[in-house]
Amino acid sequence: MESVIVNPPKIIQGGMGAGVSWWVLARAVSKLGQMGVVSGTALDLILARRLQDGDPGGHIRRAFDHFPFPAMAERIWKKYYIAGGKPADQPYKTIPMHSKNSPRELIELCIIANFVEVFLAREGHDGPIGINYLEKIQLPHLPSVYGAMLAGVTYILMGAGIPNKIPGILDLFVNHKPAVYAIHVDGATPEGDSPVVEFNPALFSERELPPLNRPYFLPIIASNTLAQFMIQKSNGRIDGFIIEGPTAGGHNAPPRGKLRLSEAGEPIYGERDIVDFEQIQKLGLPFWLAGGWATASKLQEARSVGAAGIQVGTAFAFCEESGMSAEYKSRLLTMAKNGQAKVFTDPIASPTGFPFKVALLENTVSERDVYLERRRVCDLGYLREAYQRDNGKIGYRCSSEPVDKYLVKGGLEEKTAGRKCLCNALMANIGHAQIRSDGYVEHPLITCGDDLADVARFLAPGRTSYSAREVVNSLLGIPAAREGVLTDPNRSETIHLS
Ligand SMILES: Cc1cc2nc3c(=O)[nH]c(=O)nc-3n(C[C@H](O)[C@H](O)[C@H](O)COP(=O)(O)O)c2cc1C
Repeated sequence: MESVIVNPPKIIQGGMGAGVSWWVLARAVSKLGQMGVVSGTALDLILARRLQDGDPGGHIRRAFDHFPFPAMAERIWKKYYIAGGKPADQPYKTIPMHSKNSPRELIELCIIANFVEVFLAREGHDGPIGINYLEKIQLPHLPSVYGAMLAGVTYILMGAGIPNKIPGILDLFVNHKPAVYAIHVDGATPEGDSPVVEFNPALFSERELPPLNRPYFLPIIASNTLAQFMIQKSNGRIDGFIIEGPTAGGHNAPPRGKLRLSEAGEPIYGERDIVDFEQIQKLGLPFWLAGGWATASKLQEARSVGAAGIQVGTAFAFCEESGMSAEYKSRLLTMAKNGQAKVFTDPIASPTGFPFKVALLENTVSERDVYLERRRVCDLGYLREAYQRDNGKIGYRCSSEPVDKYLVKGGLEEKTAGRKCLCNALMANIGHAQIRSDGYVEHPLITCGDDLADVARFLAPGRTSYSAREVVNSLLGIPAAREGVLTDPNRSETIHLS
């Protein structure tokens, strides 16, 4: 296969959900000549909460003013915007949960939220911007991708599942054509409800639009087999791969074969999980290596095995521009500096069933007491699983919802043990924690890669934080700034610090 990507970036700042790689971070990285990626996870919810926080800085309003469908933008604005922000002790207004037949209001919120994030990330530069989705969160895919394409997204990156049915959708959306997406429905039979979601842009459009750019598509994978499969069985063009190893932040691919746990309770990866880069190279598409590659020498090593570059997460998650709450960034950076930071690969925390990396941090859901203290409630629903009910209709359940409700829906009790409500925790990570009517505030659960242990390497002497620029410079081997002027040895020109 031949690549159509011109000038592939050396560094991709990985998508980090939810809201950690927000537009501010992605824009900063793309302005530095590399590729910034916004997280596309739960953007509808994040937008609704940012509007209820009063849209600080007016950025969302600016993006709304560029949205091609102004009546839709006004409906959303009226519904969620609160001038000056909601009172701090008041709960956020909820949004509907996604389903096979999501209400129009939610589809609209999804389109505009994806548009806003990409629009803002692209503002003020010509660099590429990507958006990252988790394949497992299937229900919002169609309106999300369409919204991101309306804003001119350059790359779509997708992992946590097998995204071979996405490329064809991109081709359809270029010309605003309708698309369908097959969802996984547990226990589905041919007599049951059709397991597909549909989206027709024409039903949402307020005017005729010119064709859109077709984004490059990069699946995020962890094996040679899946790389082959994606090439042979995708319904359209794929443009390259992110090859992600088990030290990466967020969700990890489970080990191949039967799950074995270490004494500490973490999944054990073995020989079969090692990717053969030579074989990947033979596929003829550019690829980037992710999971523990965030140093200048590792970047060189990646390039020496044929990779176009690296995808980096944890190092950017703790930089000034990331969307993670400043408090958690600072506490974990201090712990990393003192050699106390620990990351646990939790095989059961995530309702997706994939291993999920968590930073062990006081007063977060990583602590048993904090976890047990929370009353189970499922009100965001991104990780709900679709299943076929007795009457043939599609129902939804989450192994983190109240156990009795989950069992009534045919869920298995053993799947509920240790499951965490990632949806609510991840909102708390980025400063949008829900407050319950009894005053209970949702706690965070920070995810990051094993690289957390060494992340203080980016801190200049005497400093307590670092910027995306310091990460990029360090990865490119550019010496620390002297009197505000740097020289990039790879480009032989001088870069002036702003
Ligand atoms: C806070 C955090 C959240 C992440 N969330 C996602 C995600 O939503 N989707 C995804 O594909 N990868 C996610 N990742 C993985 C990164 O995109 C990246 O591939 C990985 O972190 C690279 O490894 P490194 O952390 O060792 O640099 C996340 C990583 C971090 C640190």
